[in-house]
Amino acid sequence: MQDIFLEYKTLIVFLHVISAVVWVGGMIAMRYAAHYSFLEIESPQKRLERIAHALKRLFYIVLPFVVILIVTAVFMIKGYGLNETHFSALSHAKEGIWSIMFINLIVMILRRNRGEKMLNEGNMVGAKAQIELIGKFMVPLNITLGIIAVFLGTYLSSSL
Ligand code: HEM
Repeated sequence: MQDIFLEYKTLIVFLHVISAVVWVGGMIAMRYAAHYSFLEIESPQKRLERIAHALKRLFYIVLPFVVILIVTAVFMIKGYGLNETHFSALSHAKEGIWSIMFINLIVMILRRNRGEKMLNEGNMVGAKAQIELIGKFMVPLNITLGIIAVFLGTYLSSSL
């Protein structure tokens, strides 16, 4: 694994960085650009439908990059031998952040799916409860964690 990392280091680090850009940037665009535009839709039913649809598209786009992020991270852990250096705590911190972000993403996907199903059944109150928490708390949580992970990555990048 170390040999592969040394041979393809530029590509592996690039894939790691672009994955973070798509995942974190995608959530920021959704939460702070698209979301405010959706709020202008007057019909609550239509508004929830559009939000649920946009979230579905976002989750489809980010999922492959979430996987690429962890695969490239494993290459870097092995390639730099991070666990044998004094950067191991930082590496574990980033692994922890990725894990929380991943679990949070899976829960968001499940809530969105449930919300969409409720919308189709005409259960507006239930759908709103499912989808509202995603925008109010879960996406901002992942944005914050993602920014911390990017900062730790910058620190690692300038110290390794
Ligand atoms: C899963 C555990 C992770 C590990 C072990 C890890 C490890 C690393 C390492 C070693 C670097 C430095 C690469 C180099 O310059 O050669 C790095 C950079 C970076 N990481 Fe991670 N990372 C992880 C997760 C994440 C996550 C979750 C994000 C964001 C969502 C992220 C975003 C970044 C970014 C943007 C850089 C580039 C920083 C720069 O070049 O200035 N990483 N990471």
